[in-house]
Amino acid sequence: MADITTEVLIIGTGPAGSACAALLSSYGIENVAINRYRWLANTPRAHITNQRTMEVLRDLGHEVEQEAYMHATEQELMGNNVFCESLAGEELGRLNSWGTHPNSKAEHLLSSPTFMNDLPQTFMEPLLFKTACSRGTQARMSTEYLSHTEDETGVTTTCRDRLTGQTLTVRSKYLVGADGGNSLVAENCGLPFEGKMGVGGSMNILFRADLSKYVAHRPSVLYWVMQPGANVGGIGMGLVRMVRPWNEWLIVWGYDINQPAPEVDAAFATKVARQLVGDPDLEIELLSASVWTVNDMYATHMQTDRVFIMGDAAHRHPPSNGLGSNTSIQDAYNLAWKLALSVRGQAGPGLLKTYSEERAPVAKQIVTRANQSIGEFGPIFEALGLLGSVDPVKMQENMDKRCNTDTAAEAQREALRNAIAFKKYEFDCHGVEMNQRYSSQAVVRDDQPEPAPNDDMELHYQPTTWPGARLPHCWLFDAAGNRHSTLDLAGKGRFTLFTGIGGEVWQQAAESVEEELGIKIAVHVIGPRMAVQDHLGDWARIRETSDTGAVMTRPDQHVCYRIAALPADPLAELRRVMTTILA
Ligand code: FDA
Repeated sequence: MADITTEVLIIGTGPAGSACAALLSSYGIENVAINRYRWLANTPRAHITNQRTMEVLRDLGHEVEQEAYMHATEQELMGNNVFCESLAGEELGRLNSWGTHPNSKAEHLLSSPTFMNDLPQTFMEPLLFKTACSRGTQARMSTEYLSHTEDETGVTTTCRDRLTGQTLTVRSKYLVGADGGNSLVAENCGLPFEGKMGVGGSMNILFRADLSKYVAHRPSVLYWVMQPGANVGGIGMGLVRMVRPWNEWLIVWGYDINQPAPEVDAAFATKVARQLVGDPDLEIELLSASVWTVNDMYATHMQTDRVFIMGDAAHRHPPSNGLGSNTSIQDAYNLAWKLALSVRGQAGPGLLKTYSEERAPVAKQIVTRANQSIGEFGPIFEALGLLGSVDPVKMQENMDKRCNTDTAAEAQREALRNAIAFKKYEFDCHGVEMNQRYSSQAVVRDDQPEPAPNDDMELHYQPTTWPGARLPHCWLFDAAGNRHSTLDLAGKGRFTLFTGIGGEVWQQAAESVEEELGIKIAVHVIGPRMAVQDHLGDWARIRETSDTGAVMTRPDQHVCYRIAALPADPLAELRRVMTTILA
């Protein structure tokens, strides 16, 4: 007999585990979340929060989304990615980042009702965890996962209570391993991975100091300092990251992974901070120092029958592109509704299998992208002439040459401009954030072809209702004229079907399917004198169907079915689609 019985046990209360718990509790599914530590993230690691993640928070509720904005640094202050010799020293170039370039800003505004922002993990985790616990999650801190066994009806997990030293067992229908980059759950399941761990070493130095005079006129999240002679691999590059504008900072500084990790005390931290800021008299208040490794590894399969891994447990990569906690939260959004339907007995085991089919390709994509982004600093070093020598004097001379009047200097200036502009693949990569499209049995595509890309799909989001894609956002209006995003009408743990005038019969079909399968499908008939209206005409432009056709979304707001016009028997059609998805 287990000590604790629950529907879903979640290991870890980081962004992945807390989001999964919050979603399950919002869907009314009993769950227990454990964390081996007594509390949540104690350093601000993840911070870039993209629009797709904000859409998950918005779906959790207006108050969750608003609290995130309340704690976050707003998008406008994230923008001028700065490359410099030091904060006080010469600036080498800048890049409008994170949707602050005017063109990119327009794309962001057109793509989502939400805003990208900078929300340190020390704020995101408590927000998700609080949402989970206040809605029903039973959390046990200081409780460590040790092992599990899986059988036909559930999972028995053994944990250790770190306060008493006693072991306890938990019996659940499903187990979620959201236990981070050293996931013991993934290891115990023997899940397959590709890539390497520990390809580089990095040190975080968190400190307080008012640096307004160096940065307030060029607000940014990231200040990249390139200094010949600094000791990282012969090229001195350090990152000064804003945590709170402009008095809390995180320096990220590489160290040789083949050597023991350096001891960081206040004197060493002050020395590094003075060097990167370029102020020999700078006084800092050291808050913490920690080391972490750069990884390049992803799971090619993310589940067994009843055990699932998500977040860093499945994808381990450097912070480049700011994809880690975003992807972790989005993994949870993909899995939570499938678990909910499975726990309620409304879906067959085939639905859960679609989790790995849909998310493992995303894991591969983001790990590859993040590691590629590190390599794409190379052309900047090259353009500055930092690669040909390890002699700091020579390196400085090479950098200085770009100010000369000869044609070589002009070419050097152009190379530097291009190399910095190319970093948009790390710092303004909207397509990677928003274009995720799923292929699995939980997407009924009926041979409809994927639309050809209009543009670079890494850089630009391309709206489409092609089944598998996220529902495109546009504004729709209620009878009183208040606007609501298409995404606001979807989600909330339900399937949602969008149709137009002449498609009212979908409503009766949805009611019949609900009676038969017990699954609610919300139906919105959009048009003049209807409860939802398309005053701007944007929905008609992006829906890729006629008025009588249908676009249906899953609870995670991804389109799972689309038909151009009303079929002969809408009930039979909807029954076919739902029984396929529910396996
Ligand atoms: P995470 O590691 O956060 O949490 C794991 C949880 O499992 C913890 O609660 C832990 O205590 C628990 N646990 C582990 N083993 C356990 C056991 N045996 N028993 C019980 N509990 C156990 N990402 C991003 O999206 N945007 C960004 O800007 C950045 N920036 C960034 C900067 C820096 C410097 C770093 C180091 C990282 C980032 N990241 C990021 C990455 C981000 O921090 C990371 O991807 C997420 O924290 C992953 O969230 P998870 O919930 O998967 O794991």
